[in-house]
Amino acid sequence: MAKTKFTIISLFPEALEPYLNSSMLYKAQKAGIIEVTYVNLRDFGIGAHKSVDDTPYGGGDGMLLRCEPAFAAIESVKNKDPDAKIILPTPVGQIWNQALARSFAEVSSDNSHDSWNSDFEASADRNQRAQQNDPESVNSNEEKSSSTISTRHYVIFCPHYEGYDERIMSLVDYPVSLGNYVLTGGELPALIIIDSITRLLPGVLGGKTSAEIESFSDGDNLEYPQYTKPAEFRGMKVPEVLLSGHHAKIDQWRREQSLKRRTERGVDDDLGIV
Ligand code: ADE
Repeated sequence: MAKTKFTIISLFPEALEPYLNSSMLYKAQKAGIIEVTYVNLRDFGIGAHKSVDDTPYGGGDGMLLRCEPAFAAIESVKNKDPDAKIILPTPVGQIWNQALARSFAEVSSDNSHDSWNSDFEASADRNQRAQQNDPESVNSNEEKSSSTISTRHYVIFCPHYEGYDERIMSLVDYPVSLGNYVLTGGELPALIIIDSITRLLPGVLGGKTSAEIESFSDGDNLEYPQYTKPAEFRGMKVPEVLLSGHHAKIDQWRREQSLKRRTERGVDDDLGIV
């Protein structure tokens, strides 16, 4: 079984470790399903103070992550594993959803990320060409080829402070946003990305195969209401049909409830399940 490797480049690895060393993610590491490595961005800082940020050209508030430490840190990983793919949590990235988590967890040999929006997909290429003043870089819509990756090594580069020098994007394969809000850094997104991928890997959820996980826990059952014992709690009763033992009726009830919730939410693919 292929191991999925995550390398997290961060100024605050100590903020990540407690979560990653708990519960399912800890078990997944123990079982050799995932491997998590930390790279401290500070180690690549400049000068005696190991500085990693500076003020923006053109003025403005705040500090930006500088290129030199970012490039050095990412290249330190890429030099050892040129196939590693770089994920950048950023509010301007492609919105993360279940379909993307699934494609990053794919176990197929080509591991192509079909659901990755090609406008984002080729950003590293595009940025490199932009730096070389290549005219093809201007129209991102021309880049519709789907990216095929054979590696299972994801490097999550976590920016901090108010932002990052845009040239860092030239190294990034997948800019990812966790939603339309702004966080103080990429550490929480990194945890969410790793968590949502890892739970889909074979062996993590009770020994199920990814196909079983797919049909069981990422489909309709996230959408319908579920209950466990007791059958009545503070006057609130579990719907009669669930106690009936009548599987066809239970299935039908669940389907109806899923549909109702999806309709109420007004969006059919919130979970990336279409
Ligand atoms: N960094 C800051 N805000 C973020 C967001 N919403 N998603 C991903 N990375 C971020």
